[in-house]
Amino acid sequence: MKLDAVFADLVYDELSFWSSRFGAMIFDNLELRRGVRGLDVACGAGFPLFELAFVHGPSSHFTGLDLWREALNRARRKIEVYGLANVDLVEADASSMPFANESFDLITSNLGINNFDDPSAVIAECHRVARPGARIVVTTNLTGHMAEFYQLFRETAPQLTAAINAQEAHRGARAGVQQLLERNGFEIARVVEDEFFLRFADGTAMFQHHLVQFFLYGWRSVTDDSAIYAALEETLNAARPLEMRVPMLYAEAVRV
Ligand SMILES: C[S@@+](CC[C@H](N)C(=O)[O-])C[C@H]1O[C@@H](n2cnc3c(N)ncnc32)[C@H](O)[C@@H]1O
Repeated sequence: MKLDAVFADLVYDELSFWSSRFGAMIFDNLELRRGVRGLDVACGAGFPLFELAFVHGPSSHFTGLDLWREALNRARRKIEVYGLANVDLVEADASSMPFANESFDLITSNLGINNFDDPSAVIAECHRVARPGARIVVTTNLTGHMAEFYQLFRETAPQLTAAINAQEAHRGARAGVQQLLERNGFEIARVVEDEFFLRFADGTAMFQHHLVQFFLYGWRSVTDDSAIYAALEETLNAARPLEMRVPMLYAEAVRV
């Protein structure tokens, strides 16, 4: 690996501090085996794809799949800089993957299932391309995500309670994730729950955070009214401490 290229291109950005908390559950819990044919579904710009490829080493091969072309272009450049010979990238929709039946021994998806339009179609595809006995690992945030924030949102705009509740509820619960895997032909092997807290000095800092700017896309489906967000920012500025719980799930299952 050429360090000047690493720093010139800032190739370390495949993972955010957000993604890394969920990805750590994979590297803390997954049994590492030799000679694995792996698939990372929704690999984005390369996390946890590259880390999986590095920790498994040259006896294994990993494919990263995503439909986000710019992220894959960035990931391609990182493969060159890292000099990774055991990774390839595929641009495709995870609900219709260009792989033969029974191709993979390990399928991972870090923060994928919350983002798929049709999670069941994706997990059914994972079953089709998994070899019998293959492992699948998914991580996700759960219902309860930032509950403290949603409560203050409701208190600020009680007239929007129904829409806020719907936005809050769109994340899955542990039972739902397990059923998603079981319904599609996987047997649950291991489930781990953990949590962390998003903490901010105040609401202004929170709203300017790049992660929260991303969350705002979802919140705007509740309302686009800037006056409500200004009032919410004031409410958050008065909240002490400003801490929001994020429940996390690691679910590992085996293809029956
Ligand atoms: C929250 S990001 C997670 C990216 C990465 N795994 C990480 O841990 O940072 C969700 C990813 O899902 C991808 N995605 C959403 N729907 C998809 C689909 N149907 N097929 C493939 N990728 C999809 C997005 O392009 C995005 O890269």
